[in-house]
This record gives sequence, structure tokens and C-alpha cells, in this order.
Amino acid sequence: MTLYALQQKTVALYPNLDINDVNLALMHVYHINDYSTFVLKLHEEVKEKVLFNTIINRLLNAEPIQYILGSAYFYDQDFFVNKNVLIPRPETEELVDLFIKENKGKVGNVVDVGTGSGVIALTLSNHTNLNVYATDISKKALKVAKVNDTNNKVTFMHGHLLLPLIKSNIPVSFIVANLPYIKKDEKLDTKVKDYEPARALFYPAYNIYKTLFKQVKKLRISEEGLSIYLEVGTNQAAEVKITAQKEFGESVSINIVQDMQQKDRFVIIKGIYGHKNLSS
Ligand SMILES: C[S@@+](CC[C@H](N)C(=O)[O-])C[C@H]1O[C@@H](n2cnc3c(N)ncnc32)[C@H](O)[C@@H]1O
Repeated sequence: MTLYALQQKTVALYPNLDINDVNLALMHVYHINDYSTFVLKLHEEVKEKVLFNTIINRLLNAEPIQYILGSAYFYDQDFFVNKNVLIPRPETEELVDLFIKENKGKVGNVVDVGTGSGVIALTLSNHTNLNVYATDISKKALKVAKVNDTNNKVTFMHGHLLLPLIKSNIPVSFIVANLPYIKKDEKLDTKVKDYEPARALFYPAYNIYKTLFKQVKKLRISEEGLSIYLEVGTNQAAEVKITAQKEFGESVSINIVQDMQQKDRFVIIKGIYGHKNLSS
């Protein structure tokens, strides 16, 4: 049977499956590294393999393909992922891209708060001149992030938001964070709800942005000032902006930026200088 015939047979048998997932499963089973090679090989003969059926059965149980294969693509490379970390999302690639475009040549320290698999931290370490720190409350997530940091470029720290940085008194110029923002009453796919870690998905019982901003006031801020780049949930941006205004006062600049789906998705706060210009 050709690869194409196997693909077509599978999607005909299981119309609910996403063809992109089926293609990724085929590429994994037949050791094809990229999509263009896959397309070129579609008419080659292949032997049916048990591994392919195993993957298809897991997909039928709504398990995300990234957890099945242990790999997720982010920005420009594959990262190891498992059930202890969020599967990186395209919106986060947009945030990282925006940050890189604005800060590529700058120097100083950047912190990725709630690093998960480390995708933000590692992409920033590859595409900027900044020293990169990353925190997470989950030790299991940090373990995954460290696997992804093959060249030991990022300093990973365990703890609540910025506390590890506050304790070590490291001067910070930038914060980039995609914190858990899904509200408990939001409807989610089984794929997400049953498989991704709750602590990475759901907005906690406390106001996580207010807590973050209060911690910023205890942080050692670099002499050049601090900028914060946040990815937030739909309908949260205005509220986060108000919270930031209350904490940092009128002298900081706060912008809401839309994602490619025209949703208010990113809150960018610039011009935070030490303790002097912050509201008490
Ligand atoms: C939405 S996930 C983002 C993961 C990764 N940065 C990404 O964008 O794919 C949020 C992450 O924040 C972590 N987290 C949740 N509460 C935290 C806290 N209080 N302090 C530090 N990390 C926290 C979770 O463990 C999870 O890894």
C-alpha cells in the first residue's frame, strides 16, 4: 500500500480525526522529518506498522498528537513535551515574535515566568542577546524545560512567579509571560481538558496578574527600566491593563495588542523604573 492510500484509508475510517494529526503520525512512523519530504514520498509503497495503529487509537481517545509523539513545534524548532507541560500555542509564538522584533539587539536579563516546556525562554535565548531566566511552580514542568535546554543557555528556577528572582536580587529588564488564564467556566475541548495540566491551563483562585505586579515592585529593576510582555485570555486584557495602571501608576505606558485572530491578546507594559515611580 502507498503512504497516500494508508492516509486516505485512515481518514475515511475515522472522519473525526484531524488529517494533520494523521500526517504527523505517518511521518513519525515512517521516519520522515519534514512535510515537503512527506509529500514527495506519498506515492511510495510502505508496510503497515502496529505503531501507526497504536497512535491512531490514542488519537481516537482525544489524546493530543504532541503528547503521543513527545514533540511540539514552536517558532522555529521542535521541543520535547509531555503531559506535565502545556502544548505551546500559536498565540505565544506571536508574543515571542513581537518581543524579538522589539528587543533583538538589547542586553540585560529577561525572565519567562511560568516557563512550562521552556519554549519562550529557549526561543528568546536563541534569538536575542539577553540573559534568560525562567521560573515555574511545577518541578515536573522544569524537568521538561531542562531537557529542551540542550546547551544550558537558560537559568531555570523553581518558585512562585518572580519570587526566585526577588530572592536572588538579579536586575531584570524584561518579563515575558504566558500565565494560566482560562476561566473555570470556559468550554474546552476534551483534548485540552482531559490531557493538559490544570495548573498550566486554569486561572488560579487568586488574581495572578495583581500578584505578579506586586512582586515586580519588590524586584530589582535594571537601570534602563523594565518592560512586561503578557499573553492573556480573551476578555482579560482591559482588566489586566487597569490592574497594571493601579499598581504602576500613570507614568508607565500600557498597550493592548491584538493577535492574528483580531482578539485582544497581549498586554505590553513599558517604562517601569525602580521603586520611585511606582504607586505604593
Ligand atoms: C499557560 S502555561 C505556559 C507554559 C509556556 N510558557 C508556554 O507558553 O507554552 C503556564 C505555566 O505557568 C506555570 N505556573 C502556574 N502558576 C504559577 C506560579 N504561581 N508561579 C510560577 N509558575 C506558575 C504552570 O506550571 C505552567 O507551566
